[in-house]
Amino acid sequence: MPRSTSYESAHRESLLDPTAFWGRAAEAIDWYVPPATVLDADAPSAPRWFAGGELNTCHNTLDRHVLAGHGDRTALIHDSPVTGTVRGYTYRELLDEVARTAGMLTELGVGKGDTVVLYLPMVPEAAIAMLACARIGAVHSVVFGGFAPPELAARIDHARPKVVLSASCGIEVDRVIAYKPLLDAALDRCEHRPDACVILQRPQAQAELRAGRDLDWADAVRSAPAADCVPVAATDPLYILYTSGTTGSPKGVVRDNGGHAVALRWSMEHIYDARPGEVFWTASDVGWVVGHSYIVYAPLLAGCTTLLYEGKPVGTPDAGAFWRVVAQHGVRTLFTAPTAIRAIKRDDPKGAHLAEHDVSSLRALFLAGERLDPDTYHWARELLDIPVVDHWWQTETGWPIVANPLGIEALPAKSGSPGKPMPGWDLRVLDEAGEPCPPGTDGTLALRLPLPPGSLTTLYRDDERFAATYLSRYPGHYLTGDGGHLDEDGHVFVMGRLDDVINVAGHRLSTGAMEEVLADHPDVAECAVVGVADELKGELPLGLVVLRQGVDRPAPEVEAELRTLVRSRIGAVATPRRVVTVPRLPKTRSGKILRGTVRAIADGRDYTVPATIEDIGVLDEITETLRAGDR
Ligand code: COA
Ligand code: AMP
Repeated sequence: MPRSTSYESAHRESLLDPTAFWGRAAEAIDWYVPPATVLDADAPSAPRWFAGGELNTCHNTLDRHVLAGHGDRTALIHDSPVTGTVRGYTYRELLDEVARTAGMLTELGVGKGDTVVLYLPMVPEAAIAMLACARIGAVHSVVFGGFAPPELAARIDHARPKVVLSASCGIEVDRVIAYKPLLDAALDRCEHRPDACVILQRPQAQAELRAGRDLDWADAVRSAPAADCVPVAATDPLYILYTSGTTGSPKGVVRDNGGHAVALRWSMEHIYDARPGEVFWTASDVGWVVGHSYIVYAPLLAGCTTLLYEGKPVGTPDAGAFWRVVAQHGVRTLFTAPTAIRAIKRDDPKGAHLAEHDVSSLRALFLAGERLDPDTYHWARELLDIPVVDHWWQTETGWPIVANPLGIEALPAKSGSPGKPMPGWDLRVLDEAGEPCPPGTDGTLALRLPLPPGSLTTLYRDDERFAATYLSRYPGHYLTGDGGHLDEDGHVFVMGRLDDVINVAGHRLSTGAMEEVLADHPDVAECAVVGVADELKGELPLGLVVLRQGVDRPAPEVEAELRTLVRSRIGAVATPRRVVTVPRLPKTRSGKILRGTVRAIADGRDYTVPATIEDIGVLDEITETLRAGDR
């Protein structure tokens, strides 16, 4: 694939002649049947890329490199400070594990198009299972291990998996979290019954297996034959990844095989400037899109060594953990969430731990998942003295919309901006009427259709919701849900979500889902949840509740119960910083809750009193209640 020599020319060509641009990029992928067309923009719900093409994503991540003579290269390193282990897999070893895991799934009756749910901690088997599904054309749906049973149950009921793959436990710093009881509790709530659950028994906890349903992972794989790659259509689904929307019911983002492989492979070289054989480390979780794309698929498509880290930036054992991993494995590219860097900065503001490790292999730090505050950017930039690249994207897009394409040319960085739109993305800033906003003016960030390869093709079993959520607001455009602006030079500034989605420590959560939990409590008459600024985690949920008439329990008791309820229904990552009882909620005359105003009050920011407010006095009440709680 010839390299584009300038960002401008690559971006221009990708929009003017997407067929030529992505057709060339597709040459980096092995096809059983080359695609008949590059772009079929007339497809009903979304553009279909590489229609007529047949490939296998697992072949492109593993077999292909082994066949090319790179079987002895390290494909995956599992570095797990929480268990005190480090284990490497060569491409040949990983292929062998994946082929046998695929064989196990086949023996359990899983075939092309069947769904498989994965609920796993950061163990190699998570990546192995994803690739095993891809190998046989099955569709995986990974559920983040920090989600509580009701969230897992909702995903199982929607995805209807033939098989669920899980583990006996995860480890959070020094706490063993038994996963199996969580899975059992989820399945007890489910209408759907998977045929089997395969459980990875870890030495830290032994799960009880239910006869007739549960199988021991090691036993099942040991007796399984290796399975070959099954050719699938480029447009066949590779995976479903549920993500938070504005309501409690998660959206199943569907990713195809062909577009995904082409786009991710292209991004590794052109955005991340990564080459085969280099160590690429994404410190995230396989349960999020960042983990899907840049722990599992992209590094392996590109022939890199990927690093799966089962630990935290701090506490495992200290704020030098990331630098230790970089030095020990010769990491060239590190990708993580700004929160992780803020946590390191908080514990080691002078970067004393850095001096203990040789991190000279590190060439770039990429950050995404939430807003990068300038302080953290400058701290990392000065400490590491390498490019620090903020980049903006989301579960739906699968790979960066806005970034700095280090593999094409390094654009001058601007504080507060993740960079410029990457090739393939036609970014527009639109006002209420759908007209373009002038530079410097905030509007809605939308993407002109067709979306490039690798972006979502629909929402699983919900084409209507896909169209209604993303395509209906501005015809001909995809709505990102974020607001922001462009400056005179075309740099993008992302100002935050315009909907009810918040980002807590890089975890995407729905305040709507939290409101549903609070509203379900018998003592709650009305509620609102907003994301308020937090120095470490970026945002944290704050719940305001109005109690029902006649509730005579002390408010703090109910508030504590409500925090616990959110934790047990959604997950520990969603625990509200506070739940506060207020006499009433601020509303417009038409009854809409003024969440933006509540956020401004909680953050201590200036705000304009909305002209439509029903009763201005309520704002003082809330200010006073929040202040009293802070004291
Ligand atoms: N399984 C079970 N529980 C989990 C979990 C998982 N996979 N991930 C998080 N949790 C739990 C934590 O143990 C914690 O529980 P606690 O309230 O009982 O202590 C809770 O969820 C909140 O977790 P977290 O938000 O991660 O906060 P923390 O205080 O444990 O750690 C950071 C703070 C900054 C170190 C941590 O948030 C971090 O590493 N952030 C980077 C996030 C990231 O990589 N995001 C991916 C998007 S790119
Ligand atoms: P997720 O789907 O979990 O990846 O979350 C996507 C959302 O995270 C986006 O819609 C943004 O609101 C936010 N986000 C991701 N990256 C950035 C970034 N670099 N700057 C600002 N917000 C970001």
